[in-house]
Amino acid sequence: MSSSPSSSLPLSASASASASGSASAPPSPSTDSIASSAPPVVDFDAATDLNELYSLLDRVQMKNGWAKPTPSIYPEPKKPFVPAHWRYADARAALHAAGRLVGTEWAERRNLIMANPIPGNDYATVRTLVGAYQMVKGGESARSHRHTPNAMRIVLEAAPNTFTIVDGKKIPMLPGDVLLTPNWHYHGHTNESTQDAYWIDVLDAPLVQFLGPMFFNVHPDRLEPADEIDSRSPMRFAYADYKPALLLADEIARGVRTLELGPSALPTFDRVAVHLAAGTKWSCQRSTVNQIFTVIEGQGESSIEGQRYAWSAGDMMVVPSWYEQEHVAQENAVLLRVSDEPVMRMLGWYRQQPCD
Ligand SMILES: [Fe+2]
Repeated sequence: MSSSPSSSLPLSASASASASGSASAPPSPSTDSIASSAPPVVDFDAATDLNELYSLLDRVQMKNGWAKPTPSIYPEPKKPFVPAHWRYADARAALHAAGRLVGTEWAERRNLIMANPIPGNDYATVRTLVGAYQMVKGGESARSHRHTPNAMRIVLEAAPNTFTIVDGKKIPMLPGDVLLTPNWHYHGHTNESTQDAYWIDVLDAPLVQFLGPMFFNVHPDRLEPADEIDSRSPMRFAYADYKPALLLADEIARGVRTLELGPSALPTFDRVAVHLAAGTKWSCQRSTVNQIFTVIEGQGESSIEGQRYAWSAGDMMVVPSWYEQEHVAQENAVLLRVSDEPVMRMLGWYRQQPCD
């Protein structure tokens, strides 16, 4: 691929002109200073005190940097997002009711957003990620679309013949399965069983909103045609495969085994299955990553810097950046941890204090 004209420009245009012997090169600008010949539009010398200076600054859309009310750079991460827990029993009942009132023919998705309960927020679950519960009724479909946010599903309840169609292939959805739908891949859902299907979606949409490159469109056929069933798709981590592998993994702490569901096809968030043996207590100090936990099996209790949550299968829980956490399993439990650790590592901002 050829480089763009701007990327091939020499650092010094005058040096280049001189080297090529061009007689028509413009005169070299002085390198002693960068001075504007235009006068200021405001007479700052008229200010007799700082308040007058600040008023004059407003007229040229500038802010002083020496008396800023809140510092822009600070010693440790702020913690605007808070720990939170959502019960599947509540989400399931609400979605069941929504099944009577919300049609997939007009709603893009029948889902519930787990918005972090902080003032002014109606979407993000943590800074970079959003988690949502979704339901597709038996015999129903949710149309195919694609978007720049990366997405994944964690299936909670689904009967055989429930599928996510990714790029024209039907990928089975069974309880505990994890499915990926990366950036700009068409995906839709079709439930060809008679049983309502429930799952959790996780997307990096808050990160995309912040950075800006949001794009979305609907498939021209509404539901993308698909005949082939691809149960071994690289987009699927079947629970029947990864749970046995998780149980064979080495312990990272007493009673704690982990298994990353990869190789990663998503650049922004990872997926780590965690097995906690009954009676295990697992404590982790702070890290810069934002984490969403989904309970796939078992019961237990977590404490996130003093906030205590009793959890059971299907629940969702968030540990935002820089919060301490402790998890206690009352019975053998499998959790799925989704986090933005790949982003933090990619940018050199991953920091973690140890787990016990
Ligand atoms: Fe989607």
